[in-house]
Amino acid sequence: MSNIKRAKMTVPQLRERKESHSPLAMVTAYDSTFASIVDEAGVDLILVGDSVATVMQGQRNTLGVSMQDMEYHVRLVASVKPNALIVGDMPFGSYQSSVKDAVDNAVRLVKAGAAAVKLEGGVTMFDTIAAISRVDIPVMGHIGLTPQSYHRMGGHRVQGRTDGREAGGRERLLEDAHSVEQSGAFAVVIEGVPRGLAKEITNKVSIPTIGIGAGPDCDGQVLVLHDILGLTTNTLKFTRKYADIRTTSVDACKQFVEEVRNGSWPDDDHSFH
Ligand code: KIV
Repeated sequence: MSNIKRAKMTVPQLRERKESHSPLAMVTAYDSTFASIVDEAGVDLILVGDSVATVMQGQRNTLGVSMQDMEYHVRLVASVKPNALIVGDMPFGSYQSSVKDAVDNAVRLVKAGAAAVKLEGGVTMFDTIAAISRVDIPVMGHIGLTPQSYHRMGGHRVQGRTDGREAGGRERLLEDAHSVEQSGAFAVVIEGVPRGLAKEITNKVSIPTIGIGAGPDCDGQVLVLHDILGLTTNTLKFTRKYADIRTTSVDACKQFVEEVRNGSWPDDDHSFH
């Protein structure tokens, strides 16, 4: 572990990382303990993702998360004052109905401690991204497999495998990427698309692309922390388990249960006299 104090990450620095070909690492966190862990590990960005729904709230998809939930989790992450840039995810329903709602809700996430917000969608979100950016809130786009489009996609499905300008088609994804860039976003997440298409988008846009399930040619990568740590039980093709904390945790708790039942916990050393 390095003791060198890192400088606070900024949006202009993140944008420069595309030119310098220095890959960006983004990881999700939803609370102060894990935020401090990922920050100590040196991530560039912490995403307070709406994946909190599936990871922490036991939901099937991300649609049920509220603004209050997101503000709460952004506040927990911001409480550790990480050097990484905090991106707050805009939950389903917080930006789709009007541009005014979108700006108001982006402001709420910034007041909770986010330095930037992320929202899903390409060409249809042009005005929304532009309006939020105009009030100086940096926006990260999110195209491809957009989990909030769960019902339109018929589940979490890889996008861009078919040709066409319909939502999810290859040409449409190129348009989406271009639109996100032109609307003023500072970066864009590309999720669940063939690696060749993600590479093409990365080469065509001037803003950093951050991939998940989008191959190795993006300007950065993002993963859900609970997948990295092996805390979740899913085995998705595009994630990697870098540790098996779930097994370690179950074993530790089993040992506690056993010691309680056999009377060896607490022992005299852990008792007050
Ligand atoms: O909410 C989230 O965790 C995300 C990432 C998967 C990009 O949007």
